[in-house]
Amino acid sequence: MEAFAQSEALVPASSVIDGKAYAAGLMSRVKTEVAEIKGRLNTVPGLAVILVGEDPASSVYVASKRRETQAAGMNSFEHRLPETTSQIVLLDLVKELNGDPRVHGILVQLPLPGHLDADAVIEAIDPAKDVDGFHVINAGRLTVGQNALVPCTPLGCLMLLKDRLGDLTGRHAVVVGRSNIVGKPMAQLLLQEDCTVTIAHRHSRDLANLTRIADIVVVAVGRPEMVRGDWIKPGATVIDVGINRVVRDGKSRLVGDVAFAEMGHAHAVTPVPGGVGPMTIGCLLSNTLEAFRRAQDREETSAMEIS
Ligand code: GUN
Repeated sequence: MEAFAQSEALVPASSVIDGKAYAAGLMSRVKTEVAEIKGRLNTVPGLAVILVGEDPASSVYVASKRRETQAAGMNSFEHRLPETTSQIVLLDLVKELNGDPRVHGILVQLPLPGHLDADAVIEAIDPAKDVDGFHVINAGRLTVGQNALVPCTPLGCLMLLKDRLGDLTGRHAVVVGRSNIVGKPMAQLLLQEDCTVTIAHRHSRDLANLTRIADIVVVAVGRPEMVRGDWIKPGATVIDVGINRVVRDGKSRLVGDVAFAEMGHAHAVTPVPGGVGPMTIGCLLSNTLEAFRRAQDREETSAMEIS
């Protein structure tokens, strides 16, 4: 049997969910739609990204967001501010971008330097431009099943699950991790798909016994290879959101929150790297496109009301 190269030959290739390939398809669909919009309206969606300070990892993420945004044919507006930027200056920039009709999505790269209040900055973003889906209005809309902009990572996980499993109705999903960015919105999305959802976290008792009865396990805890093979029922689908750098045999490598090589009995599993990670930028651009479409709809509605 052909096996996934990264896995010490224990996970069959057919069980590996190729997030990189799915994300490439998503990017290509976004690009096609942007080209169609440009031809029809002579305008394109725009994404503004704000980076405060010099954090090297954030700087790399922001550069790759710019590259991918431009590759999709969208406008990219990058704002790099010094580490010493005050809350007021940052809020003023957010307000300016809220009012800029060329900007349909605004992303403030996190983490912000310690003297800045990230919650207040996120709350200042127009919810209609909050392509990260972090604003409480979007979190609330997701919870009550209204049209929300949904956080990119759980949205990417859901796309991969539906692509692999089709209808998710009635499946028991266990989400390990309860962050506002991944765990909570993931649970809401799965609930909307009519799954039975359990949210587990660091205080959950008998965690392995919870995951062991799940049809779907989504793990986002930031603990290298915490989920072992015997935590997973044969035939279950496992989505690993973790990206952890570890040193093994003197070499630095990335591993997930799931012990990938022990997942040979799973129906399907995402690798790290190459699983959930590549989906995030694709979903960011897909959210920017969605924010653009909704802005167009609002413009058309108000034009009709005036005429
Ligand atoms: N930093 C790491 N991941 C993210 C993300 O998804 N959005 C924002 N705004 N900052 C991040």
